[in-house]
Amino acid sequence: MVDGTRIWELVRDTGVLDVNSAYAYLLLGEHFSDTSVVAEIDGELVGFISAYLPPSKDDTVFVWQVGVAEAGRGKGVATGMLYDIIRRPACGHIRYLDTTVGPSNEASMALFRGFARKLGTQVSENELFKVEHFPDYETHESEVLFRIGPFDPADFPAD
Ligand SMILES: CC(C)(COP(=O)(O)OP(=O)(O)OC[C@H]1O[C@@H](n2cnc3c(N)ncnc32)[C@H](O)[C@@H]1OP(=O)(O)O)[C@@H](O)C(=O)NCCC(=O)NCCS
Repeated sequence: MVDGTRIWELVRDTGVLDVNSAYAYLLLGEHFSDTSVVAEIDGELVGFISAYLPPSKDDTVFVWQVGVAEAGRGKGVATGMLYDIIRRPACGHIRYLDTTVGPSNEASMALFRGFARKLGTQVSENELFKVEHFPDYETHESEVLFRIGPFDPADFPAD
């Protein structure tokens, strides 16, 4: 992952995701490229996932942000990026994929519930951050932790 500016623009254009600084996206590319991914169609950036291995959970990859450009949605781009991450050498040992989802984000919930179904495993859903945890609580939803697993990435090799 090399292009922090294009990722920043894609995140901004979703109109839904928290827009972090361009510097944050550059750092993700610098330090978390083993677990993060972009998708391109004809050289255009259409998708992005930032993810990392939480230091306190050695069997888990945490998916931070997922964004697919409007024109690319509903075509399996996000699902394909999730598969790409769990197939990375850095994720060979993981058994769980964690993420948080805003309770009104139907597309995001469908993505992660669908991914659990495709892996043939469970998803537990429990509130992680309450609305009052956010200083911008008037516009920010709570965040529900989706924990998908257990699964073995070796059972899902690329075609
Ligand atoms: C959420 C998002 C990443 C999904 O990307 P995508 O490439 O369209 O997703 P996929 O095509 O891989 O679809 C995965 C599943 O979700 C379902 N889905 C996708 N968009 C949906 C929607 N708007 N409403 C309901 N279901 C939806 C698909 O039908 C598919 O279901 P299946 O597993 O039963 O086949 C995309 O809509 C997006 O970028 N939204 C704005 C940013 C955002 O909300 N990010 C997630 C926050 S964590």
